[in-house]
Amino acid sequence: MTDATTSSALHPLLARRTSPRAFDPAHELDDATLAALLEAARWAPSSTNAQPWRFLVGRRGDEVHEALVATLLPGNLTWAPAASGLLLVAAEVVDAEGRERRHAAWDAGQAVAHLTVQAEAMGLAVRQIGGFRHDEAGRALGIPERVEPMTIVAVGRRLDGQEAASELAARDAAPRLRKPLAEVAFSRWDTPLDLAG
Ligand SMILES: Cc1cc2nc3c(=O)[nH]c(=O)nc-3n(C[C@H](O)[C@H](O)[C@H](O)COP(=O)(O)O)c2cc1C
Repeated sequence: MTDATTSSALHPLLARRTSPRAFDPAHELDDATLAALLEAARWAPSSTNAQPWRFLVGRRGDEVHEALVATLLPGNLTWAPAASGLLLVAAEVVDAEGRERRHAAWDAGQAVAHLTVQAEAMGLAVRQIGGFRHDEAGRALGIPERVEPMTIVAVGRRLDGQEAASELAARDAAPRLRKPLAEVAFSRWDTPLDLAG
């Protein structure tokens, strides 16, 4: 696992963060660790402080973990079941009074970003999953229509090097690539931002 090649020095938690596929199938997510991860998510900013994120938490061996594994698309079945935690992240896109929450998905994503950095700080890792049957997951866990399943967050202890199955290790060791800043940061549209250095 290599640090990101960054054009500015980043905080090590950000530079070192990666989304592994090789998770330790023996790791267990204890209550204190889980509480800290959810607490980090809880303190994310949100539009009007609505906090529209919801986390439905499965730990390997329990019914929720099994129910979420059953919704995974084939490519994710090769690695995600080993994660000690599978958390379905849902966003309350319509509130209990029927009002649309325009930024609910955005807010839920920020909560996951907080959780991810907290996991990294605690020596754990996260890989998010969009490849699952969203409606089936919602039904399996009793989520109402107005709350939208967004991602499954796989969390656990990453396996490095020889500990990992070679196929997953090879994929996790692949160089990490990003678009250059010039492709994503502008002054006006189509005018790359002029940054010194
Ligand atoms: C919303 C979302 C959905 C994702 N879905 C999947 C997925 O279904 N399967 C998978 O292996 N990785 C998935 N990923 C992980 C991305 O592929 C990964 O974050 C990206 O390649 C960048 O790698 P890095 O996080 O290690 O920097 C998802 C990430 C996000 C944010």
